[in-house]
Amino acid sequence: MRSKVTKAIFPVAGLGTRFLPATKSVPKEIMTLVDKPLVQYAIDEARAAGIKEFIFVTSRGKGALEDYFDHAPTLEAELVRKGKTDLLEILKSTDMESGEVAYMRQHKALGLGHAVWCARNLIHDEPFAVMLPDDVIAAEKPCLQQMVEAYEETGGSMVAAMEVPMEKTSSYGILDVEEDMGSRVSVKGMVEKPKVEDAPSNLAVIGRYILSPNVLRNLDDAGTGAGGEIQLTDAIAKEIGEGGDGVYGYRFRGQRFDCGSKAGFLQATVAFGLAREELRDDLESFLKSLDYSRKAAE
Ligand code: G1P
Repeated sequence: MRSKVTKAIFPVAGLGTRFLPATKSVPKEIMTLVDKPLVQYAIDEARAAGIKEFIFVTSRGKGALEDYFDHAPTLEAELVRKGKTDLLEILKSTDMESGEVAYMRQHKALGLGHAVWCARNLIHDEPFAVMLPDDVIAAEKPCLQQMVEAYEETGGSMVAAMEVPMEKTSSYGILDVEEDMGSRVSVKGMVEKPKVEDAPSNLAVIGRYILSPNVLRNLDDAGTGAGGEIQLTDAIAKEIGEGGDGVYGYRFRGQRFDCGSKAGFLQATVAFGLAREELRDDLESFLKSLDYSRKAAE
């Protein structure tokens, strides 16, 4: 029997400079898609996949994130008094139980691999998940849950994967595929942000990982890689051909939004807005009216 994946690391130490000035005082992960902070989408996905412990790797200025996970007794009492049970339910669904959430500071911004390594003492000899809240994935079955099911058959380490246009490969970790089995691929190499001409494929790593605890050991003495940073991709790649259970890519079913970019954030806002029954009609007719005025202007 494989150990169950019950812990997830959420690297949230980034400065979010692409969203300045908003991120001057609001952590990027608290920015909302419709009415839910980015990070809540990741947590909901993790819970659906059976995650019981949530480890946030934070940095200076992320206090609002910790507050967000606290219970809010004054607000709750007010909603009870006003009989707003639906809002109360929404509020309670975001509460974290004492002990299921941990915060670890990344004291220096040395890269994603380093951020994950900062949480090493909270992970024992067990597989664990890593979730990058910037990657928001809309899916019928939550992406991490799809991966946990696939991982139960493969073991090893598994990364979410998606085909991207060849000219975009330099923005991602890219997989060198050994065997393509459809939704699953076995991997013989992984490169972080290769030059387009060096990319071994256009199959990119998306921010969901299920990792063997060996990856943390690989990070113990990791050097810097692409961009002068300690890369998670390099620590995972070290698992290939090491006699373990190998490394797999998993083509998830769902739509991924790159909420680390403004365009992706806006697209996600529209898509999640349209998915909400109470907003759909208004938003749809507004989008149509934009189309008419654009056509009229042409
Ligand atoms: C990180 C990873 C990269 C991955 C990407 C997915 O890069 O290092 O391998 O493809 O997330 O979003 P970042 O976007 O943080 O530069």
